[in-house]
Amino acid sequence: MFGNFPLWPARAATSANNLDALFIFLLIVTGLVTVMIFILIVVFAVKYHHSKNPEPTQIEGSVALEVTWSVIPFGIFLVIFVWAAVLYFQERTPPKGAMEIYVVAKQWMWKLQHVEGQREINELHVPVNRDVKLIMTSQDVIHSFFIPAFRLKQDVLPGRYTTLWFHAIRPGTYHLFCAEYCGTAHSGMIGQIVVMEPADYEAWLSGGGAEGSMASTGQKLFQELGCSSCHRSDTQGRGPNLVGVFGKPVLLEDGRTVTADEDYVRESILTPGAKIVSGFKNIMPSFQGVVSEEQLLSLVAYVKSMQTPQQMEPVSNRPAVPRSVTKP
Ligand code: CUA
Repeated sequence: MFGNFPLWPARAATSANNLDALFIFLLIVTGLVTVMIFILIVVFAVKYHHSKNPEPTQIEGSVALEVTWSVIPFGIFLVIFVWAAVLYFQERTPPKGAMEIYVVAKQWMWKLQHVEGQREINELHVPVNRDVKLIMTSQDVIHSFFIPAFRLKQDVLPGRYTTLWFHAIRPGTYHLFCAEYCGTAHSGMIGQIVVMEPADYEAWLSGGGAEGSMASTGQKLFQELGCSSCHRSDTQGRGPNLVGVFGKPVLLEDGRTVTADEDYVRESILTPGAKIVSGFKNIMPSFQGVVSEEQLLSLVAYVKSMQTPQQMEPVSNRPAVPRSVTKP
């Protein structure tokens, strides 16, 4: 009936189902309260009409009634609060093992790159039934990545990385909008998300001229820019050895500890003096203006890929085996 006038955008991801359930609950609660109030207005207007009560009756308070109308709404509000908070934390916490896709926004287009190397403009191909995490930045002003069919929206900021994750459940093509006014052609900064069956996605990924994975592009850059002469994989370099660093806590010269995440790697390339690793000197030059946002992302991907063989295994919670212990 609503074919040409849908009440809801398509629900194409788990986040859409979760959010709509909460939204429908809010609609029902507020709808019931509204109906109840209007019914009571009419009932009271008749029951306490002037003609039946020429002399106004004095009404005393009622503790039972007041407790009831305080406790019941309080309970309902708590349900809404807990429900929404759980959804919020779910949406803000990308699951472990999600496939990663890098996004660079600029006036006025979306540039997306898969870890395998495929680049896309204003179009993102993803497999259905997989957790997908977007790592996003802007090379100019603030943009916002908005997929109505997933009920997801995340600002994309210059100078830092923001993330967004989703789990698409229905193959199809869905709108992608920029939801932050970003200049003249903001309204034209649109694209589409193509959710594909896993086999189709693999076929799509293997087709098209891939110029090598992002990590290998990053590795080439790492050599060309001379990073590799200081960040050596032994302990002899003038910079920290980067193998196995990503995702781990790093002890700094001033005693603080930070986690080596995407933002940390980015900052260490652009503003090396901001966080000096304990035991090293502030001698690295800044690469501000030397590397583009895309190059930064491939460097980040390369640092991520530098894992020790032990870390390559999926489960990392088992006790670490000391390196010096060798089997007989
Ligand atoms: Cu980009 Cu609006």
